Amino acid sequence: MCGIIGYTGMRDCVPILLEGLKTLEYRGYDSAGITYAKDGVLHSVKAKGRLSILAERLTEPSVEGATSGIGHTRWATHGAPSDKNSHPHSTETLSLVHNGIIENYAQIGDRLSREGYVFLSDTDTERAAALLDFYYKEVKDPKKAIFRLCRDLRGSYAFGILFRSEPNTIYAIRRDSPLIVANTEDGCLISSDIPAILPYTRHYYRLSEGVLAVLSGKEIYFFNEEGESVSQTEEVVSWNVEEAKKGGYHHFMLKEIHEEPEALRKTVEPRIRDGFVDFSHELPDDTFLGSVKRLHIVACGTAMHAGLVGKSLIERYARLPVNVEIASEFRYRDPILEKDDLVVLISQSGETADTLAALRHAKSKGIRTLAIVNVIGSSVAREADDVLYTRAGPEIAVASTKAYSVQCSLLYLLALRLAKLRNTMTDGQIAELSDLLLHNVPELIERTLEQSEIVRRVASTIKDAEHIFYIGRDIDSSLCTEASLKLKEISYIHSEAYASGELKHGTISLVTDDVPVVALATVSKVCEKTVSGIREVKARGAYVVTVTTEALAKQYEIPSDEWLILPNADERILPFSATTVMQLLAYHVSALKGLDVDKPRNLAKSVTVE
Ligand code: G6P
Repeated sequence: MCGIIGYTGMRDCVPILLEGLKTLEYRGYDSAGITYAKDGVLHSVKAKGRLSILAERLTEPSVEGATSGIGHTRWATHGAPSDKNSHPHSTETLSLVHNGIIENYAQIGDRLSREGYVFLSDTDTERAAALLDFYYKEVKDPKKAIFRLCRDLRGSYAFGILFRSEPNTIYAIRRDSPLIVANTEDGCLISSDIPAILPYTRHYYRLSEGVLAVLSGKEIYFFNEEGESVSQTEEVVSWNVEEAKKGGYHHFMLKEIHEEPEALRKTVEPRIRDGFVDFSHELPDDTFLGSVKRLHIVACGTAMHAGLVGKSLIERYARLPVNVEIASEFRYRDPILEKDDLVVLISQSGETADTLAALRHAKSKGIRTLAIVNVIGSSVAREADDVLYTRAGPEIAVASTKAYSVQCSLLYLLALRLAKLRNTMTDGQIAELSDLLLHNVPELIERTLEQSEIVRRVASTIKDAEHIFYIGRDIDSSLCTEASLKLKEISYIHSEAYASGELKHGTISLVTDDVPVVALATVSKVCEKTVSGIREVKARGAYVVTVTTEALAKQYEIPSDEWLILPNADERILPFSATTVMQLLAYHVSALKGLDVDKPRNLAKSVTVE
């Protein structure tokens, strides 16, 4: 994880670096640091905690006139957040920022200790910086030293490096961690992600693995390991900086929930033609989907929860067996993969280390892969055999909302396309559902969003709870897993999701007086059973909040203490509305508690380490 930024050029670098780090804070925010070059000397300033603390330490005029520097915002892996563990890490000859994990750092440290190196931090990065220092002193050539370092490293890295001998030149290289470089009118930039360069340029290069970028301040040069000049493809960003700003909302999370109708339109509309799902723009021939015997959906966190919804939909509509796997397990447990299997990777960022490794594992076994990804050109998107992009636009809040909703919509489309190819539904049924997705879902979410104030009031009744349970059956139980994750990650309330029939097999012992239980009831065929579950927890004193429609509440005489009433809609698209309500509930609980909604503790948006 972590965010890297670097600038060298004609302007003062510190404001550019601080602004860039602010944008990259979603990648980690437990400490930050900057090295800047002034009058030919490298200075480093670092601080545990939020960026504002670092900014206070970077007082003018000392930073004025410094025109090259590198910066880092950290999500701790090796060593607790502290000043000393913050990046950049510096040696006699250089200063370096790192995103990733060096797996053999202990051996490197031992080796260098024998050479007389003393380490001040607990980090893997400091060992890598020291090894580079060692090689640089030996070969006296930054390029050669960097490639020698990379040959010795196991693990993942994106590095930004300044050498004391050439303080206005930034060196950058990566393996398995993202890094882009860009040339602007007055200087050159490196960054972990696009939003940080958008104030200056829309043009950038996604650095290929093993290619060294050398940024002079005016030009960027690329070299391979043999020292030969190589070229990189210039790409252009298609969205603008406004799309990544808060736009009047208190938090990015709330803004992003309100962007769901638009994101759903953008994701679904281009894929429905003449009433049917059509992937021909992206998958020129998708008939291979018809011969798939089994799907493995592999992802992490929220994306994995979207996979659970996908399983329900694909099994229901296309009658195709689906395994949903946590990527970090899939990659190591030697899963049974057969020739006609398809591995579907879901990822908002397309950079999640475990998801990427799972993709590579499937490919190494000769299994076809399909990625469902939000970030265009990201690693997962590029390496998968096929890719279907979700169109959520940039998602900044650490808690994923609109990306989840569009992932679910794309899986819905996939289920319908599979159903067509496998003849498990009539054309009429498919056309009807496609039409619901296309015309009714965005408008349903718009109506759902109008209830934000009601959700806020309900949130105020549960915000002080210590434990909260989510229960539901069928697809509702999959929605509960995400609802529960959303709540716990941003409100710090312990929460668990249960298929409501399962609660009584142990966990109900935790349900005592006034423990909130949020019950999702959107599936009429199991509503009676959900009602039984609600009665069971009510009998033990639970405070029940039921999420359902007015019609279902009346028809099944659902007993409840509080209600979150969904707009009337076709039952088959109600999960979208329930999702939005659950996201709003988590949002309001966190906001009412006065927590940092967009940057919850210990988390990061893009997890590019194992
Ligand atoms: C992190 C984020 C989650 C996200 C997960 C997978 O843990 O905090 O919100 O769901 O990574 O990310 P991806 O980018 O692969 O969807």
